[in-house]
Amino acid sequence: MPIIDIHGYAIVSDNDCIADEAGRTPDVLRNDADWAYFQSELNRSALTVLGRLGHEAHPNPKGRLRMILSSSATGLERRADGWWWNPEALPWGEAIAAVLPEGGRVAVPGGRRVFDLFLGIGYDAFHLTRAEGVVVPNGVTVFSACREGLSAEAMLSERGLTPGDRRILDPAGPVSLAIWRQGGRNS
Ligand SMILES: NC(=O)c1ccc[n+]([C@@H]2O[C@H](COP(=O)([O-])OP(=O)(O)OC[C@H]3O[C@@H](n4cnc5c(N)ncnc54)[C@H](OP(=O)(O)O)[C@@H]3O)[C@@H](O)[C@H]2O)c1
Repeated sequence: MPIIDIHGYAIVSDNDCIADEAGRTPDVLRNDADWAYFQSELNRSALTVLGRLGHEAHPNPKGRLRMILSSSATGLERRADGWWWNPEALPWGEAIAAVLPEGGRVAVPGGRRVFDLFLGIGYDAFHLTRAEGVVVPNGVTVFSACREGLSAEAMLSERGLTPGDRRILDPAGPVSLAIWRQGGRNS
């Protein structure tokens, strides 16, 4: 059975937001050190799975293999810019078996509905970057449940992930990173 290793990536504010009220990434959630870390992680991944808006907003100059979630896909479709997948039409197991038959590492950079979907599918790891001291009023939260007052950490913990050491990516802020892993592999 090929091994699929699913890694989520998000930079969030103190109130667990990934975007502002209008659905855009505010400047306070853009950080060069986090971006460099994220790019290095994408280089280690066989596939990036993201929502259609994120796909359209971020060109793919390195030609990395992408899977784009969209209700416009009939199931799983190979288009010029990547694999298009509609999870309502085809289960994850079948989609990923077609895209990565040998297995491999999968990077999941959101947005919110995609992060929610993979909470159900199961993250092997989640790289949670926090822009400390930043609050985004009425923003889009990383997981839907965060709108009800549950923290991102509580959601990951509920799914059996445990955090590694807090690492400072950028002393300004600071911007910190904790990698949450399944099954207590941090301990
Ligand atoms: N801070 C962070 O770490 C972070 C991470 C990710 C995104 N963001 C920011 O958040 C904003 C974009 O995120 P977003 O949540 O608005 O958009 P998104 O996830 O990039 O794209 C949303 C679209 O993806 C498709 N989609 C997502 N989940 C689906 C599902 N389960 N089934 C079928 N289709 C699905 C739908 O496309 P169709 O309309 O074609 O059906 C939906 O309209 C941007 O500002 C982005 O930069 C920030």
